[in-house]
Amino acid sequence: MSESAITTRGLRRWFGQVRAVDGLDLEVPRGSVFGFVGPNGAGKTTTIKMLLGLVAPQAGEGAVLGRDIRRESLSIRTRVGYVPEIEGLYRGMRVRELIAFTRRLRPAWDDAAVDRYLAMFGLPLHRRVGHLSRGMRSQLALILALGGRPDLLILDEPTTGLDPIRRQEFLGTVLREVCDRGQTVFMSSHILSEVERVADHIGIMVEGRLAASGSLDDMKAMGRRVWVRFEADLPSEALRLPGVRRVERGPDGYAITILGNAEEALARLRAIPHCALEVAGMSLDDIFREFAGPKGGTAAGEGVAAAAAPAGGGAAPAAAEGSAGRADRYTGPRGGGQR
Ligand SMILES: Nc1ncnc2c1ncn2[C@@H]1O[C@H](COP(=O)(O)OP(=O)(O)OP(=O)(O)O)[C@@H](O)[C@H]1O
Ligand SMILES: [Mg+2]
Repeated sequence: MSESAITTRGLRRWFGQVRAVDGLDLEVPRGSVFGFVGPNGAGKTTTIKMLLGLVAPQAGEGAVLGRDIRRESLSIRTRVGYVPEIEGLYRGMRVRELIAFTRRLRPAWDDAAVDRYLAMFGLPLHRRVGHLSRGMRSQLALILALGGRPDLLILDEPTTGLDPIRRQEFLGTVLREVCDRGQTVFMSSHILSEVERVADHIGIMVEGRLAASGSLDDMKAMGRRVWVRFEADLPSEALRLPGVRRVERGPDGYAITILGNAEEALARLRAIPHCALEVAGMSLDDIFREFAGPKGGTAAGEGVAAAAAPAGGGAAPAAAEGSAGRADRYTGPRGGGQR
């Protein structure tokens, strides 16, 4: 258990009939940046609150930094920096006063780091917290959580409200510093491109359980995305190739998702005359849609699903290596492509 920053086994919390967390087994390696993703209402915030002793579990067990979440939550909270989904800072204090107040509660306070982050974000020290903008309060909540030099940072949608420049500074500079110090980061987010950029481990929560979890590299290696252009319509046999999970039609071809070993399906696709392919690993967005997307309708074997036309209508799936300029939904390989 000491190898993990967070461990849960069979953790459960229902609210009446709502199974917010329903038998959660979670393992967060120490020193990792763990992206905790899932649809709205999947149970992410409820999980986080149970880890911190803010919501009582009804079944199961868990440990944070080797301490029991039921019996040792006070000790857990002294070693964890937590930024909640909805910040609840004291609004009557000035920024400077709230920093001084928090500093007294945190024995390992890092003045130099706090000064650096304050300068980076440009927060007005004299202003009352209640008079800050929402994004400024998010910045302050992050700085206060970071200032205590916690062994574990638990961030529930940390970049909500941050403008693109502050978001970049937080994800690029601040999180890199945190990682370099060996601290663990457990963060929930809906912005998969950000998670993909900073996280090395991922957990996808769906309906109160972990639908998939592992290192980002392993998750991406679970399957392949293939962009295909045929001169004619896609032969129906392509839908029945081994591992083909999903086929989506774009204005200029098809995107095929293959899970598991893709070699046989790729060999057979390449053998089809007048067909050009481009192969890439899965993006986090693809993986998320596999586990958390709407069920049915787009799976292979149920017919070719027409993918939404890319925004602007101009982009199309690439049919040859090196093509660029695809729209978001129909993105080609984002690096690591192979033939
Ligand atoms: N105190 C509560 N009382 C009743 N139901 C609750 C309570 N807290 C959470 N729930 C319900 O539990 C489910 C999980 O909520 P939770 O906030 O954990 O989801 P989430 O994954 O954090 O979602 P989001 O991505 O929208 O933040 C939801 O259906 C929610 O309505
Ligand atoms: Mg939430």
